[in-house]
Amino acid sequence: MQLTQSSVGRKIIMAVTGAMLFAFVCVHLLGNSSLFFGSAAINAYAQKLHSLGPVVWIFRLVMLGLFAVHIIFGVQLTLENKAATPDKNVQVKRLKTGFAAETMVISGLALAIFVVYHLLHFTVRVTNPEIYVPIEGGKGMVDVFIMVTHGFQQLLPVMIYSIAMLLLFLHVSHGFQSLFQTIGLSNDRTLPVMGNLSKLVGAVLLVGYVSIPLLILFGLIR
Ligand code: HEM
Repeated sequence: MQLTQSSVGRKIIMAVTGAMLFAFVCVHLLGNSSLFFGSAAINAYAQKLHSLGPVVWIFRLVMLGLFAVHIIFGVQLTLENKAATPDKNVQVKRLKTGFAAETMVISGLALAIFVVYHLLHFTVRVTNPEIYVPIEGGKGMVDVFIMVTHGFQQLLPVMIYSIAMLLLFLHVSHGFQSLFQTIGLSNDRTLPVMGNLSKLVGAVLLVGYVSIPLLILFGLIR
């Protein structure tokens, strides 16, 4: 309870939930990479996940909770910081920040909107009925390889995903270094290293994720 009442506590909550969401994004990318190994690989992976039954639903609820907490505290901290900013007319020495740091709440909220679209596209499967084809012998399951490859033969979804992945890069490239600051692992000496490491991690996610829709659009995965 006390954790939620101080701004340091709220920062710790942001760091912990952010780290867990980051872990999900990394594992999800690894899972999606099975697409590079063909239809059998990604469908086997999807079937394995779905066979876990209630565990998948518990996982989904935990993810939803983490997401909600991360967004609520993120917006709250941003509003608090804004309220604490001194009068515009008073000259203040601004802390060294950057575009990614200053747009964290915008990139975060835009990513939340993307996740809703992504769930409708590939999990609830309502946006593009033509790409949801049942898999042979799959007890009503959809062929995930066809869904993803046909889904990314259309320009609009590829553009939406590419913009979202750029936002993910921005968000992670500041969030990762911010996490180290919150848990006290960064100082004047290590800060530049953490900054570069964060950008590298964000870039790996960007290239890894965006390569899937782009390779499909350009006919290199079919
Ligand atoms: C090119 C990028 C991506 C591809 C190809 C992709 C692919 C998929 C697929 C195929 C599913 C459905 C799995 C199934 O039900 O069988 C899925 C679910 C999901 N994806 Fe992605 N994804 C991408 C990016 C992302 C990103 C960046 C995030 C988070 C920021 C994300 C979050 C999720 C979530 C939360 C689910 C629901 C998991 C569940 O059903 O339990 N995805 N994705």
